[in-house]
Amino acid sequence: MNINGTPTRTIRPLSDHGGVEIIDQTLLPHRLEFRTLRTLEDAAEAISVMRVRGAPLIGAAAAYGVALALAEEASESRLETACARLLATRPTAVNLRWALERMQTHLAPLPAAQRGEAAWNAAAVLCDEDVVLNQSIGRHGMELIKWKHEQSSRTVNVMTHCNAGWLATVDWGTALAPVYTAFDAGIPVHVWVSETRPRNQGAALTAWELAQHGVPHTLVADNAAGHLMLHGQVDLVIVGADRAASNGDVANKIGTYLKALAARDNGVPFYVAVPGPTIDWRLADGSGIPIEERAAHEVTHIQGQAEDGGVTSVRLAPAQSGAANPAFDVTPARLVTGVITERGICPATQEGLAQRYPEAGVCRTA
Ligand code: MRU
Repeated sequence: MNINGTPTRTIRPLSDHGGVEIIDQTLLPHRLEFRTLRTLEDAAEAISVMRVRGAPLIGAAAAYGVALALAEEASESRLETACARLLATRPTAVNLRWALERMQTHLAPLPAAQRGEAAWNAAAVLCDEDVVLNQSIGRHGMELIKWKHEQSSRTVNVMTHCNAGWLATVDWGTALAPVYTAFDAGIPVHVWVSETRPRNQGAALTAWELAQHGVPHTLVADNAAGHLMLHGQVDLVIVGADRAASNGDVANKIGTYLKALAARDNGVPFYVAVPGPTIDWRLADGSGIPIEERAAHEVTHIQGQAEDGGVTSVRLAPAQSGAANPAFDVTPARLVTGVITERGICPATQEGLAQRYPEAGVCRTA
């Protein structure tokens, strides 16, 4: 999507394969800085500290992390050790495992000396595919927004949570792809952006990227969601996912479950945008999804821009108070109106998903 009118992807290899350029998302929305990753450790650090984040982008960054690792060292064992290092960076988004397994399957049969160049190519293909999947989710999801508009002839109010926009993917986003597609098609759409404590990816990232594209949006505190739904100000909720189990249970940023509950109580359709690589066919339901516990510091402190323009962190809570920080929650499939996949919209059930992905079939344990 556009940054200051220029089409930009969130990740791209340097033309000489000397590195991979990313947007450092820890600095947004205050500073737009590109950063070059040159080593396996650079890539692992960027994922761990969330310079790159969002399930599909984590997968893409890991794929390039493998290419960087093989450029550093072309030994026989390097592929396996690099994948192990990258896999340990974040636990919830299954796209990480999916991308690394795909890289391993592609590269392991090759002689070690040929893996380096093949890794750059495989990572580029994976990124291009991500864009195509998201564009397709955009087209399918747009039909929901279009339908709502045709029913009411007024602006469609979509609520989202966290950032499942283009910053969370290579381009277009998952949950926001339908919004961009509808907006570009001239359908009047407005987005309620929930701030998404504790890291505020809604306030910092979703609001920023919607503004860059000119999409009307309003930032609200997470706690405002129920109130807005109760008062008829939300037509549709669309969120992304970090991992969907094969029965349609979905893990997404903490607070998603509460939105799904409020949506159900108020008859607001609750959709989850899920590309194929985000479905974990090894899990029968969401109870097996690992939930990342992040640092207490993210809850006790808040990051923002100081008067002098610098990005800084300030303490919110008493120094003696500890904090728990589960970063994701699982929304049960029964609260999900439908899953927007790149292959169309389906019920959040095992049958619904299996029909869209017959090659994956029903849950298969590892
Ligand atoms: O912790 P993050 O910022 O990586 O979490 C991101 C989310 O929860 C997104 O909603 C999810 O990855 C979907 S991204 C298209």
